[in-house]
Parts: sequence; structure tokens; C-alpha cells
Amino acid sequence: MPHTLHDPRISILARNIEVDDLASQAITDVVNARADARLGLATGSTPIGVYDRLAAAWRDGKVSFSQVHTFNLDEYCGLPSTHPDSFAFYMWHHLFGRTDFDPGKINLIAGDAADPTAEARRYGERFARQKCDLQLLGIGENGHIGFNEPGSPAEGRTRVVRLEPSTRAANQKTLRVLKETPESAITIGIADILQAKSIIVIAKGPAKAEAVRKAIKDRPNSTCPASFLRYHPDVHWMLDADAAGLLGAQA
Ligand code: F6R
Repeated sequence: MPHTLHDPRISILARNIEVDDLASQAITDVVNARADARLGLATGSTPIGVYDRLAAAWRDGKVSFSQVHTFNLDEYCGLPSTHPDSFAFYMWHHLFGRTDFDPGKINLIAGDAADPTAEARRYGERFARQKCDLQLLGIGENGHIGFNEPGSPAEGRTRVVRLEPSTRAANQKTLRVLKETPESAITIGIADILQAKSIIVIAKGPAKAEAVRKAIKDRPNSTCPASFLRYHPDVHWMLDADAAGLLGAQA
């Protein structure tokens, strides 16, 4: 079936902290409209400021996350949730442990599962039963979303993937303990991501500008997996000026 192409909403913010403000406000609005909202969450360096603001909003009594259900996008294979380089650890450190999220409503991928393929199936089925009210995404320098690397199909589902050398190199700088980025991960697929009711993509810095341009300007194609977001009717790109630098005047 041919997909309809949609133009995303694009917000270009002068300073990167304004991206954090806008994204955290959008998340807070969703949760205040539906106390038991389903949130799809990302890791990486870009959302850290967003999570800082969510923690502050909770401290200030502006929002409660106690009924929210969360689903993370991805996890490195081989790492238990207690490992400082796991995405589970990141989420507890930056968000869950600083707010009132209910541990029973937090859904994370078990990176240390003995059978990663079976874990991908378990998590994918759980994810597919929910429809996220809001999916928060970052974007890789190579255009990946989640760990759907270039070559990933729009129909892709939750699965074990090998990480590209460029992704492993980009993520190297965020490692706390490991010397090298793991070679493989479990990721939600692009088709899973597209199930969300609404999607926010945040990007900061000039290293993301080319991937952002391809994702927004090119026809959807698997060399830039984020370009498949054009198939979704409610995508809001929140960009700092550097990440938006190649979009041209009309954006
Ligand atoms: C993280 C994820 C990745 C990151 C992307 C950008 O859960 O799924 O797609 O969003 O690699 O990472 P940063 O924000 O570190 O540049």
C-alpha cells in the first residue's frame, strides 16, 4: 500500500536549551492531559536536558508521572540494567530515579537476556500492544532513529541489530565504563515507532544538520531511516539553529 507523505512541524530554536524547554513542555502537556499516558523514550546526549526539565517540573509540582507507562527505544546487547553504560541505567539516572515514575510501569529491554532474539520478540509484542501517546526520538548522524541504522526498512519491527562503526564511534564518547561501544543492540523497529500517536524528534548541533536535512527534504528511503517519519501525520522536529542549518530559508 503506498504511503501518504506528510510535512512535519518544524521548530527552530535559537539556543539549544530552548529545545529542552519545548520538548519537556510538550511531554508535560501530554501527561497532564492523560495521567496514564504511554511515553516512548530515547537515550543519548540530546534528551538529557529534557529529562532535567521533567525532573524539575515534577519537583515543582507541575506534573506527576506516577501513572505513566514508559517504553524505551533500544538497549545494548550484553549489558544488565545495573551496568553504568546500559540505557536502563541512563534512564534511572537521568529521569526515573529523580521523579515519581512507578517502577511497575517502566518497560525496558533486558540487554543481558540469554536469548536476545527472544527478548526482542517479548519486548516488541509488549510494545505493539500499546500505542504511545508520544514518542520522543533523537537522530543519529547517519540518520538512524532508535538503532534502525541505514538500510533498515520502514516495515521493520523490534529486533537485534548490529551497530554501524560510525554509530559505535559516536556513542563512544558517552560511555562511562566500557572502553568500546557494544557491537549489537535490540531496537524497536521503524514500523513500531510509526504506531505512536505523535512523535517529537530533537536534534542539536551541526553534526546532525545533514541527517536532519535528508530526513525532512528527501523522499523517504532507507539510506536515511529518519526520512520514514514522513509517513507519520504528527511529527514535530525541535531543532537548534545548528541542527537546522541545512534546511534553507523555507523551513
Ligand atoms: C537512543 C537512540 C538513538 C539516539 C541517537 C542520537 O535511545 O535511540 O537513536 O537518539 O543516536 O544520540 P545523541 O543524542 O547522543 O546524539
